[in-house]
Amino acid sequence: MGIIPRKAILNVKPYQPGKPIEEVKREIGLQDVIKMASNENPLGPSPKAVASIRKYLCNINRYPEGGCFYLRQAVAKKLKIKPEQLIFGNGSDELIGLTLRAFVNEGDEVVVASPTFLMYEVASTAHGAKIKVVPMRYFKYDLKAIKDVVTKNTKVVFIANPDNPNGTYVARYELEDFLKNLPSETIVFLDEAYFEFVEEQDYPNGLDYLGKNNLIVARTFSKAYGLAGLRVGYGISSPEIIKYMEAVREPFNVNLLAQMGAIGSLKDKEFVARSKKTVREGKKFLYTELKAIGVRYVPSVTNFILIELGPKSGEITEKLLKKGIIIRNMKAWGLENFIRVTVGKDAENKRFIRELKKIIL
Ligand SMILES: Cc1ncc(COP(=O)(O)O)c(C=O)c1O
Repeated sequence: MGIIPRKAILNVKPYQPGKPIEEVKREIGLQDVIKMASNENPLGPSPKAVASIRKYLCNINRYPEGGCFYLRQAVAKKLKIKPEQLIFGNGSDELIGLTLRAFVNEGDEVVVASPTFLMYEVASTAHGAKIKVVPMRYFKYDLKAIKDVVTKNTKVVFIANPDNPNGTYVARYELEDFLKNLPSETIVFLDEAYFEFVEEQDYPNGLDYLGKNNLIVARTFSKAYGLAGLRVGYGISSPEIIKYMEAVREPFNVNLLAQMGAIGSLKDKEFVARSKKTVREGKKFLYTELKAIGVRYVPSVTNFILIELGPKSGEITEKLLKKGIIIRNMKAWGLENFIRVTVGKDAENKRFIRELKKIIL
């Protein structure tokens, strides 16, 4: 007979991350490679995070504190919430799986939008959930359509605000309407991975809606805090929901250096401000240049832009790769005519535009 995996696994299309810089260097034989593909922070890590990690390097013979005691205190204080409202993950990615493991039985319903962050569907499929997919409308969440498909059997609704790869956001009034009268059985997983970059006045802070709703707000140190390689994210919810998620968490899921790096970066307001400024100014430059060459894009409130290049998007992605520029071809999202480009440092944005122009003009 041989080995037989769980049935759900057979339907999983594994998540394909952006190519790492080192892999491209090996494959293409180029030294000068830049990555604008995974919505990382181009400025490097916060220097305070690095200093904090250095201090603990010689302690890595010990297991870390499983409950992230000091990081928990620091985040709770910053967000003005109780420490027991927090759970930490190996990246905010891990919180998706913890939510499914804590609340979704095989065959239970979850709702995801399309196209959005692919891990909601990948993890739900692997978990054996029944997935209802609701299309985006004009690159935005259609919360009315999502609410129409939610029933008492819906265990989790995944919403990324702002969304990846669209770069758009759900406004305060839309979220408030959506949360009204949802079934008491339903949890809303509100993914705010790009929270820090959004400057729009009507962008809602998920934390304002915690009390009355079954809400899990997910945030991360991977983006504005520049710690994607360390893997630290956190969920904020009611102590009750957190308690169930804690029951299925691996005991040492966030490593010592990740915990200490995250604490250091929380103190680094200057770094976060500089990250936001880099993104704000980079987007302005990229928008101007794209408009000048007649290329359409979806205006973004985040650190990346969805850009329409037509049927040759895949080919253009490959050509840019050969020039040492890693961007994302959107085929896996069903957006064959698009690429997604993470805003880089000034020189990186200029290099991308220069090479793009050589290819398409
Ligand atoms: C919407 C969204 N959520 C979550 C993540 C995962 O972030 P991490 O696991 O690094 O915290 C990403 C990463 O790109 C994302 O785009």
